[in-house]
Amino acid sequence: MKNPFRDNVQKMAGYVSGEQPQESGWVKLNTNENPYPPSPAVVAAIQQAATGRLNVYPDPRATSFRKVAAGLFDVDPDWILPANGSDENLTILIRSFCDTGDSIVYPYPSYVLYETLAQIQGSTVSRLQLNDQFEWDPSAARQLCGPANLCFVPNPNSPTGNRWSAEQLQQLLPDDGVLVLDEAYGDFADEPHKGQLLKDPRFAGRIVVTRTLSKSYSLAGLRFGFSIADPALTEGMQKVKDSYNCDAIAIAAATAALEDQEWMLANRKKIIATRTRLAAELPKLGFAVSASETNFLWVKHESGRHAAIYEGLKQNKVLVRFMKFPIVDSDSVIDGLRITIGTDAEIDRLLSVLADIVSSV
Ligand SMILES: Cc1ncc(COP(=O)(O)O)c(C=O)c1O
Repeated sequence: MKNPFRDNVQKMAGYVSGEQPQESGWVKLNTNENPYPPSPAVVAAIQQAATGRLNVYPDPRATSFRKVAAGLFDVDPDWILPANGSDENLTILIRSFCDTGDSIVYPYPSYVLYETLAQIQGSTVSRLQLNDQFEWDPSAARQLCGPANLCFVPNPNSPTGNRWSAEQLQQLLPDDGVLVLDEAYGDFADEPHKGQLLKDPRFAGRIVVTRTLSKSYSLAGLRFGFSIADPALTEGMQKVKDSYNCDAIAIAAATAALEDQEWMLANRKKIIATRTRLAAELPKLGFAVSASETNFLWVKHESGRHAAIYEGLKQNKVLVRFMKFPIVDSDSVIDGLRITIGTDAEIDRLLSVLADIVSSV
């Protein structure tokens, strides 16, 4: 029998998500979750929604959520499009703006899901290589991004943790396409922006900002994200999403989460304090630590034995992310460990296990 899959689906490898062990006892520092629980107001909203009318469909426009999100970013609600996690934002974007044979560009290394989504769509992918300072060559950026339909850029970036300036981002604007600022880690930035770039004349009408509640709002298990863009773009993307992409419980919870800024900001502060402490401790164990504006650190060990360190940690039930990226047009690779900032107790455990491991690698 002929393989029934579409050609490009047959050929692609598929995205490999981070390990999600289901049993307890792990120190889980591998997928950039928030170690602190969501606001009690979120739990109350979930309980209330669960005793509500689950027999009827949810509000397809998530009106309550859009109002609160719009207030936070100083835009009208018609700039906001809610999604089932930010990954769904990205799917909606690809399906809205890319056809078979169209092209996407993204800085490399960054979030490789962009590439998988483009492969599903049958679009072509160009990787814009970052150098050791996590910068791209401006002329390569213009050459690749100019003709692209979509350029995706996580800002701050994962796994490197750095953030690019508006002037640098301007180099990524496609001539006729759209620039996607993936701000999954936006709330952890040194100066978190509240939508200024959306109205900046250099970018206005040509960018879509995506946000998730998985990281700063401690809601990875809920699946909620949203995009912010000019109403003309948002209206078009609205046609592409599933009618009821966000369920009633998630809409209630996400709305309550955004309303409790105090809770999110208190957790942000604790995470940044722990990040600062970890960044100071790791060099004592032979690690070079990249500056981070996120809830994780990108680190490289002087031994270069990142896979062995990852395995050693895993044997001790401490999970971090070992990442390896082939350099564009070269035989070399960039590799390292991405470590999510956990609670202070989790980071103490990481440091004590690491001290044993690095003495023997
Ligand atoms: C850069 C980036 N974008 C998007 C996402 C997806 O977030 P969500 O959990 O909302 O799907 C992640 C998750 O790790 C991420 O790192």
